[in-house]
Amino acid sequence: RKVSVVLNSQAVIGDTDPRLFGAFVEHLGRCVYGGIYEPGHPTADEQGFRHDVLELVRELAPTIMRYPGGNFVSGYNWEDAVGPVDKRPRRLDLAWMSTEPNTFGTNEFIDWCRLADIEPMLAVNLGTRAGDAARNLVEYCNHPGGTAWSDLRKEHGWEKPHNVKFWCLGNEMDGPWQMEMKTAEEYGRIATEAAKMMKWIDPSIELAACGSSGRNMPTFGAWEDTVLQHTFPHVEWISLHTYVNNYAGDTPAMLASPDLMDGFIEEVVAIADSVAARAHSSKRIMLSFDEWNVWYRTRRNKAERVKPGWPVAPEILEEIYTMEDALAFGGMCLSLLNHADRVKCACLAQLVNVIAPIMTETGGPAWRQTIFFPFAQMSHFGRGRVLRAEVDSPTYAASYFDPRGKDDLYFPMPAVPYLKMAAVEDPETGAVTIFALNRHLEESMPLDVALKDFGTPSLIEALQLRHDDLKATNTKAHPDEVAPTALTGVSLSADRIQATLAPASWNMIRVG
Ligand code: AHR
Repeated sequence: RKVSVVLNSQAVIGDTDPRLFGAFVEHLGRCVYGGIYEPGHPTADEQGFRHDVLELVRELAPTIMRYPGGNFVSGYNWEDAVGPVDKRPRRLDLAWMSTEPNTFGTNEFIDWCRLADIEPMLAVNLGTRAGDAARNLVEYCNHPGGTAWSDLRKEHGWEKPHNVKFWCLGNEMDGPWQMEMKTAEEYGRIATEAAKMMKWIDPSIELAACGSSGRNMPTFGAWEDTVLQHTFPHVEWISLHTYVNNYAGDTPAMLASPDLMDGFIEEVVAIADSVAARAHSSKRIMLSFDEWNVWYRTRRNKAERVKPGWPVAPEILEEIYTMEDALAFGGMCLSLLNHADRVKCACLAQLVNVIAPIMTETGGPAWRQTIFFPFAQMSHFGRGRVLRAEVDSPTYAASYFDPRGKDDLYFPMPAVPYLKMAAVEDPETGAVTIFALNRHLEESMPLDVALKDFGTPSLIEALQLRHDDLKATNTKAHPDEVAPTALTGVSLSADRIQATLAPASWNMIRVG
C-alpha cells in the first residue's frame, strides 16, 4: 500500500553540526600505510600523501577525522612518531598484532587534514598511559611556543600551533580487548584528571569521554552513568560505537538494525540528562558517535583480523561491502540525521581499506565501495535543518542477532517500518533533500510526501542506489558495479512529492 509522509516546515528536529559528517583514520592494517600515505605511489606527493585517495576523500566529503585510534591508541606513545623520521622507533602494536613503523605521526596527520580541508580530532592514550602524556600532547600541538613541548614542535618544522579543538579521552576503555581496560570508576577518575590538565593548557578544547563500546556490552548504561558522574564538569561529549552485522544471514533484520541505533542514542541521551539532573545542571552533554559502520565478515574471523609474523600494514579488516551493506549503512545515516539535536558529531569507521568506503591497491588504483554513496550524499546534502517527518508505513517483524555480549543476543523488533527516511532543509537555499530507504526486499514502494508550508517545489535531482543482486560489490576490476542512477518518475505538485521506490533501495530526492 501507499506510504505517506507529512513534512511540515515548522516541525524541526534540529540543525546538523558540521562535525556530524566525520570519519576515522586508525593505525590499523592499510588505512594509513598504503591508504592515505604511500611514498613512491604514482600519485603520491613529496610528503607521501596519495592524491588519488585525496580526490575520493574530497568527493566523500568528511568534515572531521578521528586519529590515531581506536584500539591502537591505547598503547600509543605519540612521541615515537614526531621528529626526524629515521630516528623514530618501530614498535609492536598489541591492538592489531603488527609492527608500527611510526613513519607517519601526528604532524603528518595534521598536514594531511589541512590538505584535505578536514578538521583533525585526536585521541589520547588512557590505556597504557594517562594524564601526563595527554597533557604533553596538548602542549605540543596547541601551545604557541616558549616551552619544551611547544618548542619541540617548532624544531620539528611546525612553527604554528595545530590548534586541535576536539579530543577523545581514550578509546573503548570498557572493552576487555583494550590494552589496560578500566572499570567505569577507574576510567572516570583517569579521564577526569587528564581532562583537567588538558583544559588548563588550552581551555578552548572540547573533550569526549568514552561511552560503552557497544549497546550490547554487559556494563552498558551503568558505564555511561558512572563515567559521566566523574567527568560531567570537564567534558562536552560522550562517545557511542555501533557496528551493524549480518552474521545471521537475515537481510530484513540487518536492514532493521539501524532502528536499534535510534534506541541506543535515545538511551544515552537519557542517561546523560539524568546525570545533569542529579548535578542540578542545565548543561547538556552532546553525543559523539565516533565509530559506526557495517562490520562483521572480517570481525570474528581471526585470519582476517590478525596476520602472523608482526607485519607492517597487514591486509586486515578489509571488508568488501555489498549492495545490502550499503542499505543498512544508509539506515545508519538516517539514524544520525534524525538525532541531529543531540548527535552533534559522528565518525564513519573508517576511511580507507579498513572497514572503509574507499579501497586501494598498494601501488595501484583506488575505488569507491558501495557504502561510499549514502555517506557522500548525506555529507553533501544532509546539512541544515532536519525535519520531523511523520511517516505512515506498513511494518514487518524482525529479530536481529548481535553476538557481542556474554550470551548471543537477539533483539526482537516487532514493527519495523518498511520506510526509513530523513528530510533536511538547506536554510540558505530552501532546498529540501529526502533520503529514503525502502526496506522491502520484493515490493516497490509508492511514496507520497505531503509538504506543508514549503511553497511550490521543483525537482532538483533524484537518485537511487539499487542492484538486482544484493550481494553485488565494487572491485578493482568492476569499480562501478554499484553506483547511483537516476530515479525516474518523481512527480511534483503544489504540495506533494510522489515517487516509486524500488525494492531494497536507497534514494535521494532533492526539491527546491
Ligand atoms: O574500528 C575498528 C575498531 O573497532 C577500533 O579500533 C575499535 O575502537 C573498535 O572496536
